[in-house]
Amino acid sequence: MSVYQATASAPVNIACIKYWGKRDTKLILPTNSSLSVTLDQDHLRSTTTSRADPSFKTDRLWLNGKEEEIKDVGRLSTCIKEMKRLRREVEDKNPNEPKLSTYGVHIASKNNFPTAAGLASSASGFAALVSSLAALYKLPATPSELSLISRQGSGSACRSLFGGYVAWEMGSASDGSDSLAIEVAPQSHWPDIHALICVVSDDKKGTSSTSGMQRTVETSPLLQHRIKHVVPERMEAIKKAILARDFDSFARITMQDSNQFHAVCLDTDPPIFYMNDVSRTIIAIITEYNRVSVENGGKLKAAYTYDAGPNAVIYAPKENLKEIISLIIKYFPQADAFKDPFNLFGAQGVGS
Ligand code: DP6
Repeated sequence: MSVYQATASAPVNIACIKYWGKRDTKLILPTNSSLSVTLDQDHLRSTTTSRADPSFKTDRLWLNGKEEEIKDVGRLSTCIKEMKRLRREVEDKNPNEPKLSTYGVHIASKNNFPTAAGLASSASGFAALVSSLAALYKLPATPSELSLISRQGSGSACRSLFGGYVAWEMGSASDGSDSLAIEVAPQSHWPDIHALICVVSDDKKGTSSTSGMQRTVETSPLLQHRIKHVVPERMEAIKKAILARDFDSFARITMQDSNQFHAVCLDTDPPIFYMNDVSRTIIAIITEYNRVSVENGGKLKAAYTYDAGPNAVIYAPKENLKEIISLIIKYFPQADAFKDPFNLFGAQGVGS
């Protein structure tokens, strides 16, 4: 008897131009394009194994060993249904293929980073799920085509199908067929950029991205300005900076966009606060660090960015990392928890 099983993994990504707002909540179509860097480290990934078997009566899913309900009209079931639809196309073209689309599928997914690290796991999680089903079903789909489906699991998940520098183009079609991820440049194009993740707090966030961004869409006038007048130009400018390996521009845009995203959260009614005093102190440290460099005729040396939580991600060329870590430890002595400061394209806790 044949066993139909496949495993795939996908990494976490951290946005430089933030996705915040949906124009279609069911299809997960964003109000603006976004751009991220995929973290290239083995210990920041979700790994998912899928198995199809005629004896499986229903689809089931285990997350970190615990079974999760697959709700009928939920995001998980949408992704699984879409993948089975693509499998049916393969079966229709090749009648000899086993009818896996008619079998139940069992899916086991795990993150190799603690949920307590405060990192969003939905991006890597849905990207790994879609990749493992694509392998199981032997789909001839490209990463961009698969991103159309992982997007419907969690918007940011569409960007985790590529490594390196990735754009999620918002698209304009009402069916979402052109709202997909594309590679701007592979990691090998600019491997010198590292990400230092400062875990400020591992508390679960107060307002989820999904509900927070919806409230912003409904109430924030600043979001409308951002969508129309800010993001389109920023997307072009940051792509140019990446292609030219221009860290100064990359850093400036990344920090500006993080700041505007949090301003838009504050402009939401009622307001949403994701950063705390430690987050703001890290902003001050990096700002001062950059100011000294620029005053001495140099360029920006680091860029902070914050998602829907207080944890800082600092992007910097590798040569600056040691200095940045020393600075942070100077202000937060309890943060002296680094094990391997040169292995930082990923998470390192700096305590709270
Ligand atoms: C602040 O992708 O988690 O991290 O589509 O509702 O699942 P849903 O939201 P999600 O939002 C991510 C928001 C962000 C910015 C970003 O990653 O671009």
